[in-house]
Amino acid sequence: MRVCHTVREVRDFVRAARAEGLVGLVPTMGYFHDGHLALMHRARSECRTVVVSIYVNPLQFGPREDFRSYPRDPERDLRLAEGAGVDMVFMPDDGEMYPPGYATYVEVEGLTDKLCGRSRPGHFRGVATVVTKLFNIVRPDRAYFGEKDFQQALVIRRLAADLNLDLEIITVPTVREPDGLAMSSRNVYLSPAEREAATVLYRSLVKARDAILAGERTPERVRHILAATIAAEPLADLDYAEVYGLPWLAGLDRLEGEVLLAVAARVGRARLIDNLVVKVPPAEE
Ligand code: PAJ
Repeated sequence: MRVCHTVREVRDFVRAARAEGLVGLVPTMGYFHDGHLALMHRARSECRTVVVSIYVNPLQFGPREDFRSYPRDPERDLRLAEGAGVDMVFMPDDGEMYPPGYATYVEVEGLTDKLCGRSRPGHFRGVATVVTKLFNIVRPDRAYFGEKDFQQALVIRRLAADLNLDLEIITVPTVREPDGLAMSSRNVYLSPAEREAATVLYRSLVKARDAILAGERTPERVRHILAATIAAEPLADLDYAEVYGLPWLAGLDRLEGEVLLAVAARVGRARLIDNLVVKVPPAEE
């Protein structure tokens, strides 16, 4: 497995690889768990060459967020990537990504006004900018994103379509712990009691889904189920509980088609998110 630190090294590597078949890119911020590995395995099964980027992108963190303390373990990450059959890892430093004089940003409108975009101003501008740069550096045929960050994957799909990027965006289902907690690098922030409490996000989603499957069609009542379930957990502090229509997060008067249930809560010092896509059963005549 090759490790590249500069854009020039990546370009040289990929130029040769592209002649042999599809190139897949898995963008990450490292500190790998099975969710990251699922993306790598999917890419491995579909592409001739698999590239993983590991870069904790300062641009997508707010001034009071956890950029400095974000967990990092590059040596372990490289071992895991190698075990997953990755061909090349790109690990740039800040100077390589944002050299002095850097002034260009990618802004995806509309989609980013809600959910995490509302709670984390500037977050998706940072994500869209770094991902556009990674796409231009690697020029992959396919790029892989997790449904765990559902809104992020939608933002990337939107920008790839709007900017005519010549690549396919692939999304991979959320990988969970046995008790339902979505895997996240930020789960390391949780104390044992908080780790226990953190399952409330998934439990709220399951409860809301079950209500929809049992006939609930009022968005406000579904939001209430999500919010009330999370509010009942003393160690969790609700950020948002929402339901939107898919594919593009439409506001709904009544639930129909495919809907996204999405929650975010702070548990201890971790801000956690989770979501579930529900196919609303058609009304009975
Ligand atoms: P990071 O949080 O490291 O996640 C990298 C990729 O792994 C994302 O596509 C994310 O959705 C996916 N992922 C995380 N947890 C997952 C889980 N439990 N199951 C399935 N997939 C999961 O997301 C980012 O980094 C950054 O914003 C990035 C896109 C790299 C831009 O900086």
